[in-house]
Order: sequence, then C-alpha cells, then structure tokens
Amino acid sequence: MNILLLNGPNLNLLGDREPDIYGATTLTDIERTLAHRAAEQGAELAAFQTNHEGEAIERIHAARGEADAIIINPAAWTHTSIALLDALKAFEGPVVEVHLSNVHQRESFRHHSYVSKRADGVIAGLGAYGYAAALDFVVQRLSGAAF
Ligand code: DQA
Repeated sequence: MNILLLNGPNLNLLGDREPDIYGATTLTDIERTLAHRAAEQGAELAAFQTNHEGEAIERIHAARGEADAIIINPAAWTHTSIALLDALKAFEGPVVEVHLSNVHQRESFRHHSYVSKRADGVIAGLGAYGYAAALDFVVQRLSGAAF
C-alpha cells in the first residue's frame, strides 16, 4: 500500500512560520512520524513538498497508478486552484485534505476549498495530528475495514 503525502506552499517553513497558528512541529518531524506510522501499519509513505503549483500537479499525475491514496495539505492553493482540483480528479484513490489550522475560524477567504470538491474527507484544526488521523483513515479504507 503506497500513500503519497503532498504538502503545498510555505509548509516547508512549519515550526518557524506563524507558530501560534501552525504549531512548533517541523515538516520534517511530521514526515518522519507519518512514515513510521505508515510502516507500522504495513504501508509505505512517499512525502513531497513544493512551493510550485505545476510541480504539485505533476506529482499528482505521477501518483496515478503508483500511489493508492493521497493525503494533501494544499495550503493556500486550497482556496485558489482549480488546476489542483482537476489533477486530483484524475487520481482514482482516496484523497484526504488536511489543514493544520481550523480554516473555518479564520479569514473568510480561507472558508472555501476547491480541493474539497474531490476530497473524500477534510480534516482541519487538529494540528499535526490531522495527518496521523488522515493516514489511519486511508489505511483502513484501503484495507476494506468497516471502521
Ligand atoms: C493551511 C491553511 C491555509 O489557509 C493556509 O494558506 C496554509 C496552511 C493549514 O494547514 O492550516 O498555508 O492549509
């Protein structure tokens, strides 16, 4: 079982960037913890972060036929990118959209998500734990567990 973890723009600065909103955990910590958690459940995690929208789209294209599920924090592209939505629509497996912060409590421009149109589920406001919850969900979904 192969799972792609895709993080969008500015998330390479996690731990340093607005820690009151996004927490103190770095992206490297999140990726490492998630890779371990995946391995414990018999899954393999590939992690990718980019600040370039085209690279994110190409990574999603490459995931077709290669990854079984995508966990994505599209960051600011959440609220702007029909191109990212369309790329995700071309991917067949489960997609979970994760936001560290509770976007619904924040500025109104963060309330709308293009990506949610394709996501099977959306997690917001649980901090770094949201990625772990997303991982556990996709592993269960892919292994056909009822709950
Ligand atoms: C974010 C929320 C987005 O609105 C913002 O642009 C981000 C991070 C989050 O994880 O809370 O960069 O996706």
